[in-house]
Amino acid sequence: MDLRERWKTDRLPAAMYDYAVQNGPISHIGARLLWGYDISHLRQNIEAQDPDALTLDIPCGGGIAIQDNPRHVAADLSRTMLDRARGRGAALVQTDINKLPFPSSTFDLCVTYNGLHCLPDPENAIRELSRVLRPGGTLRGTTIVRGAGRDRVITALRRLNLFGPTGTRSDLRRWLTSAGLTDVHLTPSGAVTGFTARKPADNEDAPPPTIR
Ligand SMILES: C[S@@+](CC[C@H](N)C(=O)[O-])C[C@H]1O[C@@H](n2cnc3c(N)ncnc32)[C@H](O)[C@@H]1O
Repeated sequence: MDLRERWKTDRLPAAMYDYAVQNGPISHIGARLLWGYDISHLRQNIEAQDPDALTLDIPCGGGIAIQDNPRHVAADLSRTMLDRARGRGAALVQTDINKLPFPSSTFDLCVTYNGLHCLPDPENAIRELSRVLRPGGTLRGTTIVRGAGRDRVITALRRLNLFGPTGTRSDLRRWLTSAGLTDVHLTPSGAVTGFTARKPADNEDAPPPTIR
């Protein structure tokens, strides 16, 4: 079973992950031990979401980032995750982050927490998120990165087919800028990096293209 199919159909890792991340003490200790990560950074990132923004939250998992916002669209590949997110007040969509069923320039805010390292092609996913962001809109997220002291854990999770190739912090910066995003801000904590970036408004000059 490939990585995509694993997340789409395997109910056990989805349920185990979501139970752990939504449980305060378990997530706090687990994030610290596994990733050297202070998970309060994730909670602060979520609290900083604008509650009035038309928001796309993908992968939403069991709905950790769903806030009191009637315009919050929560999407994930996994039916198990969407079932867990049900009842939290968001519109739910089952879809692949690599091929979003939304027109370009739709959302004020896209959030992608703890998902890029689970994908075979995170660079393409960021490009797709940038496409559906409206000019002037913001992307926020977190991801595990290689080169921050936890590469052995990443390798083990790759063998279990739960992680993709997983980039370094500088890969992450490159993916964001090459997707045309600007004002890139990275906030590392252990092996997890939080990020924000912005799609230039129509009247702003686009950043110079990145040579790959
Ligand atoms: C580690 S969980 C993070 C979920 C949530 N954001 C959180 O922080 O609790 C990774 C999520 O990525 C989803 N996922 C994996 N591949 C995906 C894809 N190609 N498109 C959309 N979601 C995907 C999984 O179903 C899972 O919910």
